[in-house]
Amino acid sequence: MREIVATSAMRMLTELLEQKTGQVLSESRLWRLETALGPVMRARAIHSLEALGEAVQADASGGLATHVVDALLNNETSFFRDAHIFAMIGNALIPEAIARTQAQGREPTLRIWCAGCSTGQEAWSLAMLFENGRARWPDWRLEILATDISHSAIARAQSGIVPQIEAQRGLPVSEMLRWMEPEGDDWRIGPALRGKVDFRRDNLIDPKVPSGYYDLILCRNVLLYFTPERKRDLFSVLARHSAPGGWLLLGAGETTIDLTTDFAACPDHRGAYRRVDPA
Ligand SMILES: C[S@@+](CC[C@H](N)C(=O)[O-])C[C@H]1O[C@@H](n2cnc3c(N)ncnc32)[C@H](O)[C@@H]1O
Repeated sequence: MREIVATSAMRMLTELLEQKTGQVLSESRLWRLETALGPVMRARAIHSLEALGEAVQADASGGLATHVVDALLNNETSFFRDAHIFAMIGNALIPEAIARTQAQGREPTLRIWCAGCSTGQEAWSLAMLFENGRARWPDWRLEILATDISHSAIARAQSGIVPQIEAQRGLPVSEMLRWMEPEGDDWRIGPALRGKVDFRRDNLIDPKVPSGYYDLILCRNVLLYFTPERKRDLFSVLARHSAPGGWLLLGAGETTIDLTTDFAACPDHRGAYRRVDPA
């Protein structure tokens, strides 16, 4: 691929992204700038990245900067992404978390935090998984907090609207019909699941929304483009909110190695990391 030499406008826009979100857009991924920012520029009749950089600096409200950052975030997601991970959650992690919670004499509620939930598919998949297994845990409640920094992604998640093309990604038709209802050409999460996920906008580099401890934290495909320092800080945040014995799930290309001792890979559950007992 042709190497792109960063202009001062490119540097300014990538610094804005990193400062607001922790996401680093390296030189080899600079090509994303023009593609991702095209719609923002077209909507404002801005014809170059230089002009966009100047407009961001001139906009005291910060509104344009927010649109630019949103456009540069990678919101790639799908229902039941990495299906084996969801099978492990349903077959092993939820039953073990229930047994642990019972042994601790806590009320029959499990808490999950989806950190970096994009447009909601990951959190809805967890809600579907839990309801599909309802016969195995009839008296249990599941609280799902799902957070993301992207204004547009969280607005979409909160609306419950799923475009047709995204609904088909990862969901068999029978599940689409079971959990969603048609909405024009698209779909909407149906009443059986609506209200089961609390979607909130929040920044993982300065989180305000999570509270207390979560039995399971999913932070998948979020820290790939964080610097090692940011990853370390994020693992401290996740450890602070992880229940004793709780799990962390990362994306396929992500690891805790050399970054934290708060979580350790679980030999029994490939892909899961267990909160190490602080004592
Ligand atoms: C590639 S998506 C992954 C979505 C989902 N976890 C999955 O694996 O399908 C990464 C998400 O992380 C969000 N994100 C990136 N930096 C963030 C930050 N500092 N705080 C919160 N969310 C962030 C992005 O907006 C994006 O929606």
